[in-house]
Amino acid sequence: MSFPKGFLDELKGRIRVSDVVGRKVKLRRQGREFIGLSPFTNEKSPSFTVNDDKQFYHCFSSGEHGDVIKFLEKTENLSFIEAVERLAAEAGMDMPERDPHAAERDKEAATLIDVMEMAAGFFRQKLAEGAGAEARAYLERRGLRGKTIDDFGIGYAPGDDRADRTSLLKFLKSKNVSIEQMIEAGLVIGGPDIAEPYDRFRNRVMFPIADARGRVIAFGGRALSADAKAKYLNSPETPLFHKGRQLYNLHRARKPAHDEGTVIAVEGYMDVVGLAQGGIHHAVAPLGTALTEEQIALLWRLAPEPILCFDGDKAGLRAAYRAVERVLPMLKPGHSLRFALLPEGKDPDDLVREEGGEAMRDILAKARPLSDMLWEKEISTGAWDTPERRAKLEADLEAAVAAIGDPKVRSHYAEALRERVRKFFGGAPRQGGGFRQGGFRGGFQGAFGGQRAGRGNVRGRGGLGRGESYMPPVTPELRRSALASGASGEQGREGLLLLTLLNHPELLENYAEDISRIEIRTPALDRLRNEIIDIAALHAPLEREALKDHLLSRNLADIARRLEAGSAFRSDRFAWPDAAPDEAEAGFLHTLARHRRAIVLETELKAAERALAEEMTEENFARLQAIHAQLERAEPADGL
Ligand code: UTP
Ligand code: MN
Repeated sequence: MSFPKGFLDELKGRIRVSDVVGRKVKLRRQGREFIGLSPFTNEKSPSFTVNDDKQFYHCFSSGEHGDVIKFLEKTENLSFIEAVERLAAEAGMDMPERDPHAAERDKEAATLIDVMEMAAGFFRQKLAEGAGAEARAYLERRGLRGKTIDDFGIGYAPGDDRADRTSLLKFLKSKNVSIEQMIEAGLVIGGPDIAEPYDRFRNRVMFPIADARGRVIAFGGRALSADAKAKYLNSPETPLFHKGRQLYNLHRARKPAHDEGTVIAVEGYMDVVGLAQGGIHHAVAPLGTALTEEQIALLWRLAPEPILCFDGDKAGLRAAYRAVERVLPMLKPGHSLRFALLPEGKDPDDLVREEGGEAMRDILAKARPLSDMLWEKEISTGAWDTPERRAKLEADLEAAVAAIGDPKVRSHYAEALRERVRKFFGGAPRQGGGFRQGGFRGGFQGAFGGQRAGRGNVRGRGGLGRGESYMPPVTPELRRSALASGASGEQGREGLLLLTLLNHPELLENYAEDISRIEIRTPALDRLRNEIIDIAALHAPLEREALKDHLLSRNLADIARRLEAGSAFRSDRFAWPDAAPDEAEAGFLHTLARHRRAIVLETELKAAERALAEEMTEENFARLQAIHAQLERAEPADGL
């Protein structure tokens, strides 16, 4: 939209920059200017100035500068037009008329919006009344508080499939809304081949969908019963509502997004609502479709690197990969996406309800860059163990890079991916012969006695001989962590061992033999172990990232991710990526010893049970009890 000559000058003349800025930044006068702490950086001493005469602001630490319109665009996440509108209202100026057709369209849209607002009011009212009892109970079961319901204007559309199909229709009619308008607004279904027009939304919880200014333009309706034909029913495309161009909750998320420096895109309405209830207000959702390019562009107006959230299952990953493909042609310097994958089978709403907002913030903090997701997407499609297949991977990656529109971004991607390919395939010999030669840092060498070979095949090297075992010095620290850990059961110990390996693949250097002989009874974990051994044999020396990449290409990333994301091993610090190598080694060996001991005990247990069954003596009973007690602790007994 272009403004008549002089309009913007007049506007800027009527508004003092320091007044508008002063609402956001505490300003102090200094000569002809004002000075304060920059809203664009996190500074401690003021480098932000405002000059009313020159009608601009300047931030010396970030280089941001501009006029009062720009200031609103930047700090309130408004578009240019929206900023002008707001300032014009403040200055008491009418916005100039656009062409007469546009004005006509606006007028019509305004009346449709009135209809939508009336409907929203009706739905809210119905939720509060007797008819809404079931819906209120439903929302309560889902853990929604009254304030959240009010904040999001959630309502209830009464009715059923037979008798009661026109309650909204009757209400709107009483307000002099025509049937044609109701149909145009998408609220009523009618037309030449429909005998009696009727309400589109019946017996559903209603989520109003607003435009960027907060005006209701559509609804999403959630069925109360699990067996309804469509779980969600959304407004159709109308003159007000273009589902690919809007985002649920955009108008509320705008300011929080600016304050947080990022914006989150989740899949559903309930996710947005659940997050808000958990204190996370900068979330939006598409309207029942995958994110469109227009929606990505909208997200970029809120923050340079929006975080997309997906379920960690196969469908969620597929959706994430689709988003990767969609965004590549759109990338520009400084603008990207990040990806947060949730624990399998959970959406953000579940997670916040079950584990709280902090758990969600943890996952958001671990969001992964687009370049990672692209790499993962490409290598997850096959095994790359022959020259032809490797060549195919390179060709696929090149094609993906070629899809990037911006030349600068493209060349950086090309470079980063080349480097990853090099690492993935083992790369050129590195200086110093690759593998850490001196063994692990710290003092366990003597105690463990494994020989430390240089490079070469991991199989059949180092480690303990058959039948040998070791007992790491049990420090109080280790004992505490072993006892406090969630890793007490068989699966827990197996998982803990594998998690330690995932994060510290250097352990494979000396313990491949032991690892291949551990008894692992959980089939998925057994498979993971076998593949890790296999990969280590083919690709030594093996770094953490490379190991994960290889697992991904063998379809084992899911289980690996689940081990990493799970909370079972929160207290087992040695298994974490940031544990020192000797700490990891000690913890690993300790767990290994515990695991072996437990398996021995189980054999003894069976024998004791048999003995007791044969002969019910007090002695046999005591023996059984003792084994039970030891098993519960699963601690290595002295001398093992
Ligand atoms: P989900 O199936 O993930 O639902 O749909 P949800 O958000 O977890 O909903 P609850 O928790 O079961 O209530 C995500 C989004 O996909 C669209 C809606 O926009 C929904 O918010 N959707 C889903 C539909 O449009 N129609 C459907 O039948 C299902
Ligand atoms: Mn859900």
